[in-house]
Amino acid sequence: MKTETIRPVHSLSGGLEVPGDKSISHRYAMLAALAEGTSEFRNFAAARDCQSTLDCIRALGAGVALKGSTVQITGHGLQGLNCSERALDAENSGTTIRLLSGILSGQSFNSKITGDASLQQRPMKRVIAPLRQMGADIRGRDDNFPPLEIHGRRLRSIHYQMPMASAQVKSAILLAGLFAEGETSVTEPAATRDHTELALHEFGAAVQKHGRSLSIKGIAAGNGKSPLHPVSFDVPGDLSSAVFFIAAASLLPDSNLYIGNVGLNPTRSAILDFFTHMGAAVTVVNLESRQGELVGDLSIKGAKLRGGVISGDSVPLLIDELPMLAALGPYTEEGIEIRDAGELRVKESDRIATLAENLKRMGAKVEERPDGLRVEGRSAGKLLGAEIEPRGDHRIAMAFAIAALAASGETRIFDADCAAVSYPAFFDELRRLSEECRK
Ligand code: S3P
Repeated sequence: MKTETIRPVHSLSGGLEVPGDKSISHRYAMLAALAEGTSEFRNFAAARDCQSTLDCIRALGAGVALKGSTVQITGHGLQGLNCSERALDAENSGTTIRLLSGILSGQSFNSKITGDASLQQRPMKRVIAPLRQMGADIRGRDDNFPPLEIHGRRLRSIHYQMPMASAQVKSAILLAGLFAEGETSVTEPAATRDHTELALHEFGAAVQKHGRSLSIKGIAAGNGKSPLHPVSFDVPGDLSSAVFFIAAASLLPDSNLYIGNVGLNPTRSAILDFFTHMGAAVTVVNLESRQGELVGDLSIKGAKLRGGVISGDSVPLLIDELPMLAALGPYTEEGIEIRDAGELRVKESDRIATLAENLKRMGAKVEERPDGLRVEGRSAGKLLGAEIEPRGDHRIAMAFAIAALAASGETRIFDADCAAVSYPAFFDELRRLSEECRK
């Protein structure tokens, strides 16, 4: 386990590109494994999580050839997967296990899928329940936790009203819907990231959107032939990774940073609106649409941040950015308050507790609540360098590395290599950009 030491810097300048989007890469890989033929993805996520997805689809019989950040995936059609000889390992990746559960439910073979110690504590009932309604036979520890044993079946279509706003649950149902008889539909209580429906459409599936509802026609509604064709796509950079650098450049007054090729899908870009609302100097340039996904470049300069409250329907749209926002709280005028975000307690770590613990280590004034936290702003005093325990959570490690850039004294981030779950080169890039400004 590696410890990274972060010293204060006074600005962050230069240019960078962040790794390919993690959510999009998972979906492209899984759909390519179900298409008939070879797909190619450039700028495929370097994230460890997406390598877990590649390992799983390889074990299920898809061809996977990875060269740098380009991956070629050969699928053998909707019914072309094979039983894996060993248990599938999703490692730290909730998206891998939940989305694959949808696909595995519709197979004619049995599978076992598990993950690391963190993933084995994360709730799966949210996908088990709707997939069971579709006829799947899934067993988990305490009927909720991995390992999951999935006995593939012929599935029936359902109309599912989701009790929670979760893109992973929506996606698991839509993917299972590919294998079901008739038309499966799912209605979400609030908008969540829509990469699955966009990707399904690009691969040729019959998916439709009506307000908050999505529907998909299953294989049994057609002639039995795979509706999915291979594709050749560029994956946009991951805005949820870019956010650490957006925060750093905003925080440090003389910064001037340019981030190229970032995914700006409207179901992900609420974070840019929030930064703008806080007074940040973030500008979008060169906006274009690729494969249904918006992509652009970002220019960020240092600014005085106001702070603010995140609650209600904004929470699912900002869910992965909340650790960074909370860790920025002590540098803002009004502080940061997060409400209605109990979901943070079942992420890669209990993010509410991990944020509160580490913010306190740095001297911040924090109130931990069951569904969020309130972090006091600048008037509560400057953050002090400290020892940070990310609890194996990539976004916590990166959020505190950024908070440390403007603290007094040195900060040590323990187990810093957990950042590789989404952003393997994060600390190298941070050093490069802060070194540039020291020249
Ligand atoms: C993801 C959905 C979100 C998010 C996760 C990635 C996805 O999870 O937090 O990092 O790719 O669908 P939930 O669906 O649990 O909200």
